[in-house]
Amino acid sequence: MNLIRRKRKEAKGKAVKTTETNPPHAKQKRRRWSRVVIDLGNPRHRRKLLFGLLALGLASIVFIVVNVKIYEYTESSEFCGTACHTMAPEMARYEDSPHANVECVKCHIGPGASFFVKSKIDGMRQVYAVLTDTFSRPISSPVHNLRPARETCETCHSPTSFKDNIIKTIIHYDNDEANTPLQSTLILKMGGWQESTGVSQGIHWHITNPVYYIAADEQRQVILWIGVEQNDGSMKEYFARDMLTMAQTSFVDTAFEKDEVRLMDCIDCHNRTAHYIPSPTEAVDDAINTGLIDRTIPYIRAKSIEALTPSYNSTAEAYTAIEALAEFYSVSHPEVLTAGISTETLLAPTLKQIQAIYSETNFPEMAQTWETNPNNARHTPSLGCLRCHDGKHVSVNETGQEVEAISVKCNLCHTVPIIGRGDELLVESPVITCATPDSHADFRWTIEHRSVTDA
Ligand code: HEC
Ligand code: HEC
Ligand code: HEC
Ligand code: HEC
Ligand code: HEC
Repeated sequence: MNLIRRKRKEAKGKAVKTTETNPPHAKQKRRRWSRVVIDLGNPRHRRKLLFGLLALGLASIVFIVVNVKIYEYTESSEFCGTACHTMAPEMARYEDSPHANVECVKCHIGPGASFFVKSKIDGMRQVYAVLTDTFSRPISSPVHNLRPARETCETCHSPTSFKDNIIKTIIHYDNDEANTPLQSTLILKMGGWQESTGVSQGIHWHITNPVYYIAADEQRQVILWIGVEQNDGSMKEYFARDMLTMAQTSFVDTAFEKDEVRLMDCIDCHNRTAHYIPSPTEAVDDAINTGLIDRTIPYIRAKSIEALTPSYNSTAEAYTAIEALAEFYSVSHPEVLTAGISTETLLAPTLKQIQAIYSETNFPEMAQTWETNPNNARHTPSLGCLRCHDGKHVSVNETGQEVEAISVKCNLCHTVPIIGRGDELLVESPVITCATPDSHADFRWTIEHRSVTDA
């Protein structure tokens, strides 16, 4: 206690205990700050005050910036995708997807504070699962508590904008020596909803018409029941025929009670739009198409797929199997390696490419492959649309007679594919294997068909 304070206290008539009678810590406790007097008329005070305020302002800015940066970083795709090694497959496929520039949080959290808080709490649970190694491999999918697509996807994609049909050419290659190209061209009936007319049709009909369904399995691949809400509020029901033959319909009420009925949205078809793992066939066809795999190597399509298909125990084992293709060529097709072309220039880059496909589509650490996550936006290689459109989901009348089935007609969703093989036109699609007349080998048949069928 300094002299001035003691004097002041004495002046106020307060009893001042001497230091001698107090233990050192008690003395510390009673110590008061001297009164701070700021005199703005005093230039020294003014300077000090200004300096103090500046320092405080600067510290606040640094504090805010650091927090914003931490916030931004924890919201970034880099953080979400790389902070935990468990996300490696999702991150790798995301970077190769049409959504590579859309941040993870745009689909997984969406706008609004409540989902932000929820996601941070969920994030904590995930960190705990990683620390205690209790997460599932692969991370289970579908994500059951994913925010409804209306509040995420529809912030960028308007369901009213799907009016045009789109032409698609899907390129495959044959397993022959020349790896002949096979193109399927089809017109997809995109459809959607037109606000002005209220018309809703085509593939995107499912969004403007509430379609409910009950799945038998976690991955929603086996559909037991489908309900389409009609304009008058009633429900048009379709049952999996197997359930009807077993006289099982009460499961629908139970599912409604247990809240296990799902309302179809974007994610029921576009479930892999950010994380699609192509099958070996698709990945190889794509690599040949983009020139990464050299199409001039005989049988390279068949051989690449053959090497990529088995399930290997490790990446090293897969790489060895892929390298072994060089032996196949040196024995069966030595001509590839002669004619002035060495293994180094022709085969080696292609084998490296096949290895790259392996590592980009197989994630042994997370036990994730193309087979663990079916893509529902098509019907090959997984069931996709045909989970419902298989002709085996039927509506019945009061007497239990089948009335109609959800259509499996090829031209419900797209025109019958025109298939070209190299320079020829093949009419048979790999799916429909019925015999077609010779006239169909001519392009004109697509136009003339209607007028000549009677003949
Ligand atoms: C365009 C929207 C979109 C973006 C962007 C996106 N995801 Fe996803 N993600 C989904 C959807 C939809 C599912 C649900 C998949 C399903 O039901 O099969 C999903 C599923 C997942 C799963 C569950 C496991 C699995 O493979 O299905 C993880 C983990 C995941 N995403 C992580 C990420 C990470 C990390 C990022 C950013 C690097 C990201 N996602 C970006 C839409 C997205
Ligand atoms: C932040 C905006 C944004 C969000 C959110 C978003 N997308 Fe997209 N999406 C895009 C953009 C941009 C493209 C076009 C990419 C291109 O053309 O390369 C696209 C392309 C697509 C495509 C066409 C490419 C393909 O995969 O065939 C589909 C389908 C699609 N989005 C579905 C979805 C679904 C489903 C969701 C929700 C899970 C979603 N999107 C969320 C911006 C978004
Ligand atoms: C019944 C299944 C289904 C549902 C539900 C569905 N889509 Fe699609 N969508 C498709 C199919 C099939 C395609 C064409 C696929 C392709 O191009 O490979 C497509 C194409 C698209 C495209 C690409 C359009 C283009 O011109 O290339 C976008 C974007 C898209 N859908 C967004 C959405 C959004 C957003 C939702 C939810 C509001 C949604 N879809 C719901 C099946 C569906
Ligand atoms: C969960 C079940 C389910 C799935 C999965 C499903 N659909 Fe449908 N779809 C229906 C039902 C139910 C109808 C309506 C049948 C009726 O008219 O009563 C329908 C109708 C349609 C129609 C006709 C719409 C119109 O113009 O009236 C098209 C086109 C279609 N679906 C395309 C697809 C495509 C493409 C996919 C896959 C990407 C798909 N559907 C997946 C249940 C499904
Ligand atoms: C419920 C809707 C629907 C029905 C029914 C349907 N398809 Fe498709 N089909 C699709 C969609 C969606 C695609 C995917 C187009 C794409 O890859 O973008 C597709 C793609 C295809 C392809 C190209 C696949 C590839 O990888 O080359 C062929 C061939 C095909 N369909 C044949 C048929 C035949 C034959 C039938 C009748 C037995 C049929 N489809 C019925 C929706 C349907």
